[in-house]
Amino acid sequence: MKSQPARRAYAVDDHRPGSGLLADVLAGLAAAPRRLPSKYFYDARGSRLFERICALPEYYPTRVELSIMRDNIHAMGLALGPNVRLVEYGSGSGLKTRLLLKHLDAPVAYVPVEISRSALAASVAALGREFPAVEMLPVCADFTQPITLPRAARAPRQTVVYFPGSTLGNFAPDAALRLLGQMRVEAGQGGGLLGGGALIGVDLVKDKAALEAAYNDAAGVTAEFTLNLLVRLNREIGADFDLGAFHHQARWHALAQRIETRIVSERAQDVHIAGQTFHFAAGEAVLVELSCKYTVEGFARLAARAGLRAAEVWTDPGHQFSVQWLVCR
Ligand code: AVI
Repeated sequence: MKSQPARRAYAVDDHRPGSGLLADVLAGLAAAPRRLPSKYFYDARGSRLFERICALPEYYPTRVELSIMRDNIHAMGLALGPNVRLVEYGSGSGLKTRLLLKHLDAPVAYVPVEISRSALAASVAALGREFPAVEMLPVCADFTQPITLPRAARAPRQTVVYFPGSTLGNFAPDAALRLLGQMRVEAGQGGGLLGGGALIGVDLVKDKAALEAAYNDAAGVTAEFTLNLLVRLNREIGADFDLGAFHHQARWHALAQRIETRIVSERAQDVHIAGQTFHFAAGEAVLVELSCKYTVEGFARLAARAGLRAAEVWTDPGHQFSVQWLVCR
C-alpha cells in the first residue's frame, strides 16, 4: 500500500513567529518622531479586545459595514459572479465572510491570508464545515509582504480579493496604494477568464465628534487595546515599560483625514529594551496607529492610481461607511 503524503495544514506557511518584532520596535523608538506598527496590536489579548471594540456602541464601522453587506448581498453576489476564487486579507471577519460565501454562486476556493496561526485555523475549520464544496487554501503569512498564493484545483472564473473592516485605513496613503496595486496583481493573476477585482470596506469621512468617540469609547476598551501593545513588548522582547505611566490618545486630524492614535508618556522616564535605553520626556508620544478615512471621490482617486475603478459603491443611509467593488480599469 502506498503511504499517503502528509496532509498540510496550510497551503502556504510563510510566517516565522516573533520575526521582525524586536527590530521594528528598536527602529520605531529610535525614529523621530517615534512610532510603532499597529500590526503588533493583535496578540491573543489584543485580538480579544478588538472583538470587544467591534461590539461597542461608539465603534460604528463593524456594525454599519455588516448592515451594508446584509442590505446589498444579492447585488454583491451578482457583481462578483459565479465560480469565484475568494482571497481574503486577514481572516477575522467570520460573519461577513460567511455571508459573502453563502451568497456567491458556486465559489471554487477560499484563500485567507492571515498572520495569526490560531485565528486562521479557527476560521478555516468553521468555514470548511459550513462550505464543504469550497476548497479551503489557508495561507499563514503577512499579507503586506509579496507572496505567491495557491491556485485553486478547479479553474475559477475570476479572483476576488476581499478586504473588509476598513483595515486599508490602517495604512498611510503610499502603503495603501502599494496594497491596492498588490490586490490588482493578485486579482489579475489568480487564474480565471476575467480580470478579477477587489471588494473592500472603506470608512468614510464624517464629523469629528463621531470619529473621536469611536476611538475613545466611554468604557475604555480602546485605551486597553492600545496599551496592550506595551504589555506585549514587556512580555515578548523583555521591555520594561511602566504600564501605569503611559496613556492612550486618539485624535482626528482633519487635514490628513485620519484618526491618529498615540501612546503618551505621563512623565520623564527611561525604558530599556535589549540593552538599549530610550528616554521619554513628559508628554512625549509614540504614534501607534493611523485610521484613515476617505470621501468616495478621494478613494476613487487613490484606486485609480492603482489601476482600479469602483464599479459599485454601496453605502448605508447615513453615508458612514462604504463597501466598494473595484475592478481593473
Ligand atoms: C482594524 N482597524 C480597521 C481598526 C480601526 O478602526 O482602525 C482598529 C482599531 N483601532 C482602534 N479601534 C479599532
